[in-house]
Amino acid sequence: MIRAAAIASVASIAALVAGCFDATTIDEYPCPPDGTALTYASFGEDFLAANCETCHAADAPSRHGAPEAFTFDTLDQVRGHADRIFVRAAAGNTTMPPGPDDPPADERARLAEWLACGAP
Ligand code: HEC
Repeated sequence: MIRAAAIASVASIAALVAGCFDATTIDEYPCPPDGTALTYASFGEDFLAANCETCHAADAPSRHGAPEAFTFDTLDQVRGHADRIFVRAAAGNTTMPPGPDDPPADERARLAEWLACGAP
């Protein structure tokens, strides 16, 4: 009995740890059946400007180490990196932006929907 309980608690700790590193990918997040009302003009451009472009713009005074290849100035650049943007910042994924000033969960949910629908 004691051994079974120990095994069960080890398993639940393992599941917890796995969960922390188990990012949701864009393929796991369907576009709603009716599509999205969000567009680059109404949402994506402003979201990226507010949360990402201090480091990920070509003309950022300091990129704080953000890779040159990951510049989000245009819709084409955003679409080209949609899978990585999703895994770092959309839905429950919160590793971007770095630091404590995260956008709220409802904004990340909107980012997820917009990207999952092809970033219209
Ligand atoms: C304060 C600066 C800063 C801000 C703001 C920032 N990033 Fe980053 N970003 C970095 C740095 C530094 C790296 C390289 C280290 C790393 O990958 O964690 C990076 C790397 C990345 C990468 C490439 C690595 C990968 O996992 O593919 C993506 C994609 C990314 N960021 C997305 C975003 C998104 C989306 C936002 C806004 C929601 C954002 N970042 C906001 C600094 C920033």
